[in-house]
Amino acid sequence: MKSIKEETSLNNKRILLRLDLNVPIIDDEITDTTRIDKILPTLKFLISQNAKIIIISHVGRPKGKVVNELSLRPICKDLEMKLKQKIKLISKNIKEIVYKDLFGSDEEKIVMLENIRFYPEEEKNNQLFAKQLATLAEIYVNDAFSCSHRAHASIDEITNFLPCYSGLQLDLEVYALKKITSEIKKPITCIIGGSKVSTKINIIKNLIPKFNNIIIVGGMANNIIKYMGNNIGKSLQEEKSDPIIEEIFLLSKTWNCKIIYPEDIIVGKDLNGNPEIKKLSEVLSDEMILDIGPKTIKVISKIIDESNTILWNGPAGYFENPNFANGSIKIAKKIIENNKSNKIYSVAGGGDTVSLINSLNSINDFNFVSTAGGAFLEYLEGKELPGIKALKLNVRT
Ligand code: 3PG
Repeated sequence: MKSIKEETSLNNKRILLRLDLNVPIIDDEITDTTRIDKILPTLKFLISQNAKIIIISHVGRPKGKVVNELSLRPICKDLEMKLKQKIKLISKNIKEIVYKDLFGSDEEKIVMLENIRFYPEEEKNNQLFAKQLATLAEIYVNDAFSCSHRAHASIDEITNFLPCYSGLQLDLEVYALKKITSEIKKPITCIIGGSKVSTKINIIKNLIPKFNNIIIVGGMANNIIKYMGNNIGKSLQEEKSDPIIEEIFLLSKTWNCKIIYPEDIIVGKDLNGNPEIKKLSEVLSDEMILDIGPKTIKVISKIIDESNTILWNGPAGYFENPNFANGSIKIAKKIIENNKSNKIYSVAGGGDTVSLINSLNSINDFNFVSTAGGAFLEYLEGKELPGIKALKLNVRT
């Protein structure tokens, strides 16, 4: 893998820069800018080299259709403000864009293409689409470690058509995760939560041989609560997950890995509702599980106390509503407390987890915070991520 830092002749070169600007946006307002802030060094480096930058990114999961709420406009504005530089957002169909649509004059240095996932070809890793994207630039840079577990056109296939480089943030993440996984100290506890159940549930079984405890919370836990014979009402869930859960429990016995899931929960009628503590068996059909309960928090705190390493990916509840943020905040505070007294080594990852930690002003109270969620977990699995593999395979000078 070659880093763009090592490239010295970028003057006026057109760089196709894949970033992960998938930040939380509510009513056109970005509620956490960490992922934007982390890639500023890469942009500043390219600007200092007088390169012409074409930014590509996605936000959310528009499933190959134009969804106005998932426009990159608010992100473009935030970046303009931070770089004190005009950035043109190009909404024209990528398949029809030609060079003159990008940079109108010599002064224009940075443009941004609209959400790459508005095109179905992106997630299909379509070769023609990647080829078309490649015609816009002379060099490709992947600075989206958190998307590198996706074999998508702008991450994977594109590397067949341009000289490829890694970006500064990707270098940093890969270096840190490599170091962490090679020097990890047992007992290791992995806390997995969040709402991207389909992305993560299959990963758990591959993590079992590597860890001593796996704590499953958030939307991830709902399937287990249901598997145990409980009604989970309107809660987030993954269809047909019983065989995977069965396998998780079987494997955990083989590998002597403890699986911990909620003992009690907090429910609400909807995401904006009021909280009510309940036993697992008490959820009504019109209720949603939105946080872990006090008993569960106690169990998790004890396990954190007994661990030497904590890896945390995904909140314990719908923390965006303070009524359901208690579980995630308590987990964060316990990790921070033990980290400050040097009892544990702690790593957190994922967009939502990072937002939560940021809201507590505690980003520096963890040993390492990765911007990546799914990619972080797949890296822990020991898998080579398609985006990283593609960069390695396609180094050209
Ligand atoms: C993330 O938020 O983890 C990345 O942007 C990838 O998003 P995805 O899970 O929708 O592919």
